Amino acid sequence: MKIHVVQPGQEFHVEGERCLVVPMFQDMNTVPTSILSSEDEALISGLRKRSILTAKAGETYYIRTENRAYEGILVVGLGKRDDFEPETLRRAAGSACRSLQTNRVTAVVLDAAPYTDLPIEAFVEGLALSQYQFQLYKNPPKDGPEPTQIENLTCIISSESAVDAAQARCDAAAIVCGHANWARDLAHQPANHLTPGSLAQRAGEMAAAVGLEYEHLDAERMAELGMNALLAVGKGSAEPPSFIILRYRYDVKAPTLGLVGKGITFDTGGISIKPSDGLHEMKYDMCGAAAVLGAMAAIAELKPSINVTAFVPAAENVPGSRAQKPGDIVRAYNGKTIEVNNTDAEGRLILADALAYMVDTEKPARIVDLATLTGACIVALGHQAAALLSTDDDLANHIEESANRTAERVWRLPLWADYDKLIEGTHADLCNIGPAREAGTIVGGVFLKAFVGDTPWAHLDIAGAAWGVKNVPYWSEKYATGYGVRLMVDWVRREAERNG
Ligand code: BES
Ligand code: ZN
Ligand code: ZN
Repeated sequence: MKIHVVQPGQEFHVEGERCLVVPMFQDMNTVPTSILSSEDEALISGLRKRSILTAKAGETYYIRTENRAYEGILVVGLGKRDDFEPETLRRAAGSACRSLQTNRVTAVVLDAAPYTDLPIEAFVEGLALSQYQFQLYKNPPKDGPEPTQIENLTCIISSESAVDAAQARCDAAAIVCGHANWARDLAHQPANHLTPGSLAQRAGEMAAAVGLEYEHLDAERMAELGMNALLAVGKGSAEPPSFIILRYRYDVKAPTLGLVGKGITFDTGGISIKPSDGLHEMKYDMCGAAAVLGAMAAIAELKPSINVTAFVPAAENVPGSRAQKPGDIVRAYNGKTIEVNNTDAEGRLILADALAYMVDTEKPARIVDLATLTGACIVALGHQAAALLSTDDDLANHIEESANRTAERVWRLPLWADYDKLIEGTHADLCNIGPAREAGTIVGGVFLKAFVGDTPWAHLDIAGAAWGVKNVPYWSEKYATGYGVRLMVDWVRREAERNG
């Protein structure tokens, strides 16, 4: 999608099925506009007066026009002006997208000129995310036309001095959402196509394309390093585990941020096997990895003034004669021993080695991990937010700020020392599970905390947020969300700014 931010009168001619998008607040009787003809303006005011059009948030109304510079007008409701936030426009773009696709629109002109402060980059995000489709394994439909894509977006804004900054924000939004959609592609790849090895290969191709340092540790190297918790998870599978490392280097003198993503390409539970209902969804157990890889790709392009290292431990968790068994004891990279009383709590095992290795070798100023870690997280928060657990209030607050800006929501849960008791091992230092049905998401966080030492760290449990989200117009229930890419890129860019 090509994006051009212009001033009124500067819009240029593009070929295709064109549509003028006019945003409208509910408390308006008419649309203020910089380019509508007076007939069209009167038509919209009439529809508004008769309450055929109400401009409620998310409502859209398409009007086919003849003999104009555009073939249609789409009025997009923004609800009450006092309730407006960037997410209103992001969602409105998602709703608009459906109508634009139905009407086979390929070129959109957004008339934001009547509003001085419309965050048009949120419109770009909403369009970019809602246009996403995953068709890799579908044969093209035999009947009916191919779906259309919006190829051009022109945003008209009123202030001449704001054009360059708005263009830069829109371009950045398109880059980030492009990589979020790439992360969604990774998520949708089923486990027979996306193995730990092929995930590493995809990461390597991406790194070469955007200019990131790429390193891959194989099982032999992991064994030399003592990553026995990660190796134990992968033992049952014919697919060997992988450890993916990506580095974005800005300057040797700048601090380094660490990102870690859970890359379980399929989670059967292992010997502690899961029930078969919904089990196919466990191909999504690498959504943390996908988010971290997608964020790194965007970071490489946006070049914030800070260093970022990403670690992605990847494995397939399946039963088999070589699989780890409940009760097994493993020694992690940092020397701590873990009693694996449930092989389905595997995410924390692979993250334990990755976090400890990150702290030891990269000396990051802060670490954030993203993981589809616990079903309990969906019980607590549904699909509306990720759980945030952190040892550092400043870090947690900054992540909350980014979450509010991107509407990739987080909700913080506590890590009080009292919880540490829940994961004491009987025959080892730690146990990988706590008492059944007690604070499941917190226990996951408490376990990970044992592997980060004093480094300020935050854990995002994205079990609910990664897929299955309903009623957010720019996401689709049948697709993974790419949750975490926009959030982490925003956080990294702000960290770079805070760092001066
Ligand atoms: N990948 C799952 C968590 C999960 C479940 C994510 C459903 C999204 C949807 C994780 O590896 C797991 O199985 N966790 C266990 C932990 C338990 C054994 C302590 C769980 O949530 O049941
Ligand atoms: Zn599991
Ligand atoms: Zn899992």
